[in-house]
Amino acid sequence: MALVTSTEMFKKAYEGGYAIGAFNVNNMEIVQGITEAAKEVNAPLILQVSAGARKYANHTYLMKLVEAAIIETNLPICLHLDHGDTFELCKSCIDGGFTSVMIDGSHHSFEENIELTKKVVEYAHPRGVVVEAELGRLAGIEDAVNVSDADAAYTNPAEVEEFVTKTGVDSLAIAIGTSHGAFKFKPGQKPQLRFDILEEVEKRLPKFPIVLHGASSVIPEFVEMINSNGGKMPDAIGIPEDMLRKAASMAVCKINIDSDLRLAMTGSIRKYFAENPSHFDPRQYLKPAREAIKGLVKNKIVNVLGCDGKA
Ligand code: 13P
Repeated sequence: MALVTSTEMFKKAYEGGYAIGAFNVNNMEIVQGITEAAKEVNAPLILQVSAGARKYANHTYLMKLVEAAIIETNLPICLHLDHGDTFELCKSCIDGGFTSVMIDGSHHSFEENIELTKKVVEYAHPRGVVVEAELGRLAGIEDAVNVSDADAAYTNPAEVEEFVTKTGVDSLAIAIGTSHGAFKFKPGQKPQLRFDILEEVEKRLPKFPIVLHGASSVIPEFVEMINSNGGKMPDAIGIPEDMLRKAASMAVCKINIDSDLRLAMTGSIRKYFAENPSHFDPRQYLKPAREAIKGLVKNKIVNVLGCDGKA
């Protein structure tokens, strides 16, 4: 099995009313935790790498880790660039073996976003690589992406047909109220997503795969694990799982998850050190972290995304 694109995955996900998990990877333990979980429940996978991950771990290391995961699991895995912000970054990932890239031109004007996205599509498609773009702007912080609440904007459904037709893009990330990071809603605020926007986009782009960024649930168990072991993350709040299930049953075919992995890893390591203050072998504390990621991903696949058994 070689790396695959997301084309077939999205087609089946759309028809089947489920979504594929797109999990951010930064090191070996994260890759192992995610892929071992997917293997156990036979799920297709998107592993995504941000510019920050590439800077931290290096392109070749991440490529080889994902190739190793394919050999170990024999699963269909798509390797995706998350939030590419320039043509050059997308080109570098396409030339370097990724099967999917996101060009995030959401900080540009509508016309400039179209122009940039089209340029990436024209480079990617002849090389067998698919492209995700974004319309609207999500709030929150993740690696190089940092958008204040004031700069965030819901997707305008009236723009989607023109954008997709003019760019030739393969999938579209939209802003309906999710946000990057672990603080998605204010304490006391009722979590809400604009399903009316998703419905309108679905109507205007029949059978077209939609992507949901900023979709971690910020699982309370791991927030509590962090806070009760020396951490300080009060008021961390995510997207309720029932909302993600609803989105997956609609046009959303790809659900992005990063913060939940970070929380699981950090919570487990904090707990391990609190219980074993004299240990200093990284294998000892990375093992429970990897197990926590595995459990979390398995639960997401089966109980939220619904893509178990679909590999
Ligand atoms: P979270 O911060 O909600 O995990 O979102 C991750 C994401 O959208 C990556 O692009």
